[in-house]
Amino acid sequence: MKILVTGGAGFIGSHIVDQLIEVGHEPVVVDDLSTGNLANLPESVPFHKVDVCDQAALAAVFEKEKPEAVCHQAAQMSVSRSVNEPSFDAQVNIMGLLSTLEQSQKSGVKRFVFASSGGVLYGEVTEPASESHPANPISPYGISKFTGEQYLSFFTREHGLETVALRYANVYGPRQNPHGEAGVVAIFCQRMLRGEGTRINGDGKYIRDYVYVEDVARANVLALTETLPTTHVAFNVGTGVPVDVNELAERIHALTSQALRDAGRSTTVPQSEYGPPRAGDLRSNLVDATLLKQTYGWADKTQIESGLKTTVNWFAREAGI
Ligand SMILES: NC(=O)c1ccc[n+]([C@@H]2O[C@H](COP(=O)([O-])OP(=O)(O)OC[C@H]3O[C@@H](n4cnc5c(N)ncnc54)[C@H](O)[C@@H]3O)[C@@H](O)[C@H]2O)c1
Repeated sequence: MKILVTGGAGFIGSHIVDQLIEVGHEPVVVDDLSTGNLANLPESVPFHKVDVCDQAALAAVFEKEKPEAVCHQAAQMSVSRSVNEPSFDAQVNIMGLLSTLEQSQKSGVKRFVFASSGGVLYGEVTEPASESHPANPISPYGISKFTGEQYLSFFTREHGLETVALRYANVYGPRQNPHGEAGVVAIFCQRMLRGEGTRINGDGKYIRDYVYVEDVARANVLALTETLPTTHVAFNVGTGVPVDVNELAERIHALTSQALRDAGRSTTVPQSEYGPPRAGDLRSNLVDATLLKQTYGWADKTQIESGLKTTVNWFAREAGI
């Protein structure tokens, strides 16, 4: 099946592309390369450098490629940028989604999968939240993901487009961009491997649900290709396992120190220091992926120990260590 992946040159999108190829599908990528990187993609994958907000350029891609399904990963994903520039966030995350939905509907796409976010949708939760947990988005980024899901539901009702919202927890793994603010794992890996200091905000007892990128990519492949329980559906994608930033920093400290020793480097990795708490950070956020497990037999195959090890090793290779 030919599947258009928007944001396919990014962190999660490029892993989806890899898995689609592995199981015999034909991915095609649209990306404006604002945070994505062409090096994430195999050369054989058709690539269109297009902004999803550019209706005419997007229409030309749909006309040429005629995809049967669309996997929409393209987004601006900085919560703080969304707070400072809510109209930019809405432009990319709402208008960009809408233009992709419109082109999908006009060109006869059967199914549309959307990268939503459990982290920003459910807000503060101490127990893993199921899909029926009330939405409580507080940032413009969260509001745009919530609004996006409402538009998906509209396109299903009005046009019969099959739509799936995948509500990711905190995704980590190889190829994550360490330059942003969202990827704490990527930031710690890169800085610690350089022997640079790292800062933990507040007391570090901020609980998150870290899910490995290949497990998230597999959820996308299932949502794109398997029979859906209903024509519009939302699935959480996470582990439900609480990990706080202190534990994360300790694990990455141990793994990066080991990687440096194995490479014969004398670099010492400093222990993380504590800084002031970051305004608006949730204390606890976890998602319950029972529905995805029961529907498709999906599992979070990669536990945090092995996922972090693979990620540290990838960052070490990238750094020439
Ligand atoms: N990483 C996480 O923990 C997480 C959690 C919840 C949801 N998400 C969602 O998953 C999706 C993928 O995120 P990611 O972590 O891979 O980030 P990413 O920044 O690596 O990927 C986003 C991709 O979209 C592209 N893009 C951005 N604006 C575009 C535009 N206007 N037109 C075309 N392409 C554009 C970027 O160049 C990039 O390749 C996003 O929708 C994000 O909101 C991510």
